[in-house]
Amino acid sequence: MAEKPLNVGLIGLGTVGSQVAGRLMTAQAQLSRRAGVELCLKRVLVRDLKKRRGVEIEPDLLTLDPADVLEDPAIDVLVEVAGGDEPMRSYLERAIAAGKHVITANKVVMAKHGPELLDAAVGKNVDLYFEAAVGGGIPLISTFRTDLQANRIERVSAVINGTTNYVLGRMAAAGLSLSQAVSEAQAAGYAEADPTDDVGGYDATYKLAILASIAYEIKVRPDEIFREGIEGVEPVDFRYARELGYAIKLIAHTQRHPGRVEARVHPAMVPLEHPLARVEGAENAVFVEGDLVGQVLLVGQGAGGRPTASAVVGDLIDLARSIRRGVQSRPSFSFDDRIGVVPMGEVVTRAYYRIRVDDRAGVLAAIGQVFAEEGVSISSFIQKDAWSQDQTVELVVTTHPSLEASLQRARVRMAALEPVHAVSSFLRVF
Ligand SMILES: NC(=O)c1ccc[n+]([C@@H]2O[C@H](COP(=O)([O-])OP(=O)(O)OC[C@H]3O[C@@H](n4cnc5c(N)ncnc54)[C@H](OP(=O)(O)O)[C@@H]3O)[C@@H](O)[C@H]2O)c1
Repeated sequence: MAEKPLNVGLIGLGTVGSQVAGRLMTAQAQLSRRAGVELCLKRVLVRDLKKRRGVEIEPDLLTLDPADVLEDPAIDVLVEVAGGDEPMRSYLERAIAAGKHVITANKVVMAKHGPELLDAAVGKNVDLYFEAAVGGGIPLISTFRTDLQANRIERVSAVINGTTNYVLGRMAAAGLSLSQAVSEAQAAGYAEADPTDDVGGYDATYKLAILASIAYEIKVRPDEIFREGIEGVEPVDFRYARELGYAIKLIAHTQRHPGRVEARVHPAMVPLEHPLARVEGAENAVFVEGDLVGQVLLVGQGAGGRPTASAVVGDLIDLARSIRRGVQSRPSFSFDDRIGVVPMGEVVTRAYYRIRVDDRAGVLAAIGQVFAEEGVSISSFIQKDAWSQDQTVELVVTTHPSLEASLQRARVRMAALEPVHAVSSFLRVF
């Protein structure tokens, strides 16, 4: 074993940080043996020195001064498990500038600034690891970086947000409304007090930006990704989805096109036989297609302190080994700036519409005409029972693959038809 220990500075001692610190302190001998060098937790930056922690830690290790972890020359590796854009982006930049290797679980920073930070790391001849930023404990980044590197990645489709998967699962199984299912998820510890990031699809968008950037080695920013949350999904949609042979999932999808890539996050009807339709509860699953390997499915716990710490500490051991050998063990990334994201209107997808109309003659013909004029071909058309009180019926229409722009125009034009009360739901069919 190398004589000089590898000193680690940690930022954050919350859900993930306390598990990382705990594992480093309780399994030090085993981890150090695997790393080939003693791993030493040297300093921990927090905001509150008095707060009760999920791990027993020497008070002397804690600090409120960022310079103690970012600029102390005795610290070799910065592990950031705090979260949020600023000040963490600046902290990572400072650590890299000071010649420290960096490991982060921060999806926001990696999604928005990952390519620049990776470039800066190459410039300083240090490594930047971020396995935990996507998919918690599921080995995704290392799989792309090493095991799949012989491939041209064609597409990646994922259920990458455990909170929404739990919520949609409860709406499907128990007929709960969105707000009831979110409250249940909060009580079970699967949703934050403010669930906007998850329910609105923002979290999945950050993760997809990272996955797409790594899969294709291009810069895909979160704001270039089409995003729609699960707010519009209603309990009745699950009933119709089941009848039609689908589950409803929040899907993050990216696909290669000549000179461009498609990248979108939205709820979708997924055929029941597709592996992503069977992802249960707060689990995550990522379905990858490469030209050599074919299809690969990675499934596991996409969040939680312990699975996420597994990824962080795994990165640390890998990094320690490569430092000891004096090489960067994994290939670094280079990002092609010339490849852009396909505008959503140009994406081709199937769709599901739920439309409330007057129960009278001529309505179907009017709706059929809108679809025909927009060049959208109908795949199935179901009329549900009449609503006795107001003499309306619900129509459920699914389409063949069509341009998103045409599907949206059809949606707006149908809503404007006199006998149409509402296009109550529009979902893409995966
Ligand atoms: N939790 C998960 O399941 C999970 C899964 C995958 C990735 N991640 C990522 O892991 C990171 C940490 O998540 P978490 O759930 O552990 O968060 P958390 O429980 O809220 O803990 C955050 C920690 O960071 C510290 N912190 C925050 N801002 C700070 C600042 N400006 N200066 C110093 N310390 C600061 C906090 O200090 P105080 O305790 O003193 O307030 C706290 O200890 C995030 O990037 C998150 O996206 C989390």
